Amino acid sequence: MTSMPELVAIFNGFGGIASVLVAGGALFEATDLGESSAQFTISTAASGIIGAVTFFGSIIAFLKLAEFVKKSWSGVAVKALNALLSLGCLGASAWLVIEPGSHEAYWMAVALAALLGIFLVVPIGGADMPVVIAFLNSCSGLAAAATGFVLGNNILIIAGSLVGASGLILTQIMCKAMNRSLGNVFFGDVGDAATDVGSDEQVYAGKVKSTSADEVAMLFDTARRVVIVPGYGMAVAQAQHAVCDLANELETRGVDVEYAIHPVAGRMPGHMNVLLAEAEVPYEKLVEMDAINPSFQQTDVVLVIGANDVVNPLARQADSGPIAGMPILDVDKARTVVVVKRSLSPGFAGIPNPLFAADNSLMFFGSAKEAVLDLVAAVKES
Ligand code: TAP
Repeated sequence: MTSMPELVAIFNGFGGIASVLVAGGALFEATDLGESSAQFTISTAASGIIGAVTFFGSIIAFLKLAEFVKKSWSGVAVKALNALLSLGCLGASAWLVIEPGSHEAYWMAVALAALLGIFLVVPIGGADMPVVIAFLNSCSGLAAAATGFVLGNNILIIAGSLVGASGLILTQIMCKAMNRSLGNVFFGDVGDAATDVGSDEQVYAGKVKSTSADEVAMLFDTARRVVIVPGYGMAVAQAQHAVCDLANELETRGVDVEYAIHPVAGRMPGHMNVLLAEAEVPYEKLVEMDAINPSFQQTDVVLVIGANDVVNPLARQADSGPIAGMPILDVDKARTVVVVKRSLSPGFAGIPNPLFAADNSLMFFGSAKEAVLDLVAAVKES
């Protein structure tokens, strides 16, 4: 589940390269049969170009998500190169339309689109990757739909259009969740966080307070409302069943428990919803970010389990790098925040989180599953 974005990236890419090869094959066949209609050549060029952008863009997205490529190159030169490559793709397509049997034109369009796919995704870093994956998913559908026109296959046209449209809707939802526009993601130079964030001592200036299971159980004793914020760490540790047990235990003691769900928590859309549903957490207990944010001020304890970027108050500052402007869960407004994670390491966006050093925050260091099981035991004993 935690590697799902990489898997989706590769699947999108395979969809794209399949379109390139099928349209290329159809071109060979058509040359033999003398087929040269405008619909055929235009859809062949569209299939090759969108498919190649999808495949090579997805490979770069995969390499970035799997952390094989950590750096992002951006700037005016990359934008100018992309503009030139786009023009080149259009030129090669026009050549194919004018000379329908020209295999050179088709493969030139594919080669230019391959470079375009690489240089479109290379500048994008950090927290914007989910949007890119959703967009490439849409492109793989559009490439398939174009291939449907090449082959005259209605099922491929309909299926491809559905994937293309749903991918675009998902891209739109992800952009909204990250407070970005698609143009800002592709051309905004948001890039990666600074790699050197300094030592924990420099970043948090000795203000971090650590806590234990017994202390947190005492906080729960006097709490009337607790909100649980799950994140990527809960998914890695597969702690969702232990988290559900803890919530049940608290509820039997009369505590009101809800789960705050951030739209990009974890590594895929709906990641937290799926995990918590697997642990049979009632769906009405899962509250979306916009609905739960106003209630944090009346919350006694917020338990953040393996979440980091989605609760990082730095996002409210315009100059905070990859997550600047991303709406977050306002957990820092609660009376007490307990953060369960193994260390002070940053999250996906690679930036420090001032929440860890806030006056009302306590760090409960440990792997999520063991830490939550300790909490369950401590609550039962208290
Ligand atoms: P993150 O900001 O990635 O933070 C996860 C935290 O979990 C880390 O700081 C890590 O700290 C902790 N952790 C890892 N393993 C753990 C374990 N076994 N037990 C306890 N804690 C553990 O997660 P988030 O707050 O869920 O935010 C998601 C991020 O991923 C956003 O930046 C988002 O843009 C990005 N993203 C989202 C998606 C989608 S679609 N949801 C797709 C790709 C990327 P320690 O190492 O100290 O434990």
